[in-house]
Amino acid sequence: MSAKIISGKDIAAEIKEELKKEVEELKASTGIVPGLVTILVGADPASISYVTAKGKTAKDLGFNSIQDDQSEDLKEDDLLALIDKYNKDDSIHGILVQLPLPKHIDEKKVLNAIDPDKDVDGFHPVNVGRLMIGGDEVKFLPCTPAGIQELIIRSGMETNGAEVVVVGRSNIVGKPIANIMLQKGAGANSTVTVVHTGTKNLDEHCKRADILIVAAGVPGLVKPEWIKPGACVIDVGVNRVGEKISEKTGRKIAILKGDVDFDAAKEIAGSITPVPGGVGPMTITMLMKNTVKSAKMLAESKK
Ligand code: GUN
Repeated sequence: MSAKIISGKDIAAEIKEELKKEVEELKASTGIVPGLVTILVGADPASISYVTAKGKTAKDLGFNSIQDDQSEDLKEDDLLALIDKYNKDDSIHGILVQLPLPKHIDEKKVLNAIDPDKDVDGFHPVNVGRLMIGGDEVKFLPCTPAGIQELIIRSGMETNGAEVVVVGRSNIVGKPIANIMLQKGAGANSTVTVVHTGTKNLDEHCKRADILIVAAGVPGLVKPEWIKPGACVIDVGVNRVGEKISEKTGRKIAILKGDVDFDAAKEIAGSITPVPGGVGPMTITMLMKNTVKSAKMLAESKK
């Protein structure tokens, strides 16, 4: 039987509707409008398209959205001063510096300069530490892993006691999603294994997974025979494997392939995310969710 397709596009739309209402209520009860600034240094085409999408979504949800474009040769000190300005600005609840940064700027220094209480990307070491501790400590979960957890929960998958296998150990996806799924509580409480390039018998680990989360960045890495029948498969891979002409716009667009052989895997899995249209749409949505949370925390602190 063919797997249920977990549509990130549909679930993201559902969450955005919820957020729109929350923004309206927050405005009506406190006068606070969530403020998000995205800082783009340089003109990398992929970064421009991500930042534009973030700004558009923020505006659609009724945020105060600022896109602060800076030239490629911006000095590191000037970027740090800009972050400091937004750290001190009470109308801004979320600060996002689009990565990657030009080579002359120290990325770590920049991410560490963002006020952890405005770090809606969840990349600051303080927020990474809060995620490790879990429970009430957590302020902002990083957006892609938070989106993965939402997809699992909203598709009705049981996580309590489930065998979760994460393929990949990146700081942005693998490590945080492993930590999220092992926390005590609803939507988690799983038994988590992280496998990576140093793991022996990768296939044997994957075959045990009730929930298989693949974030390796290797197109088609996970073979259909590695999937336990009925498992939930979350494919985080977005690999550009070529180009084609879009039927809609007539323009050249990238052909994207996940880390899982989707067509074969869907005949074995119980549920599976497509690429594109799976995890991708969730990342921006969770950024918006973090920004609303940040604005609400400010409202609470003023009571
Ligand atoms: N570049 C690509 N993805 C991201 C992201 O999620 N956050 C930031 N800040 N930069 C990115």
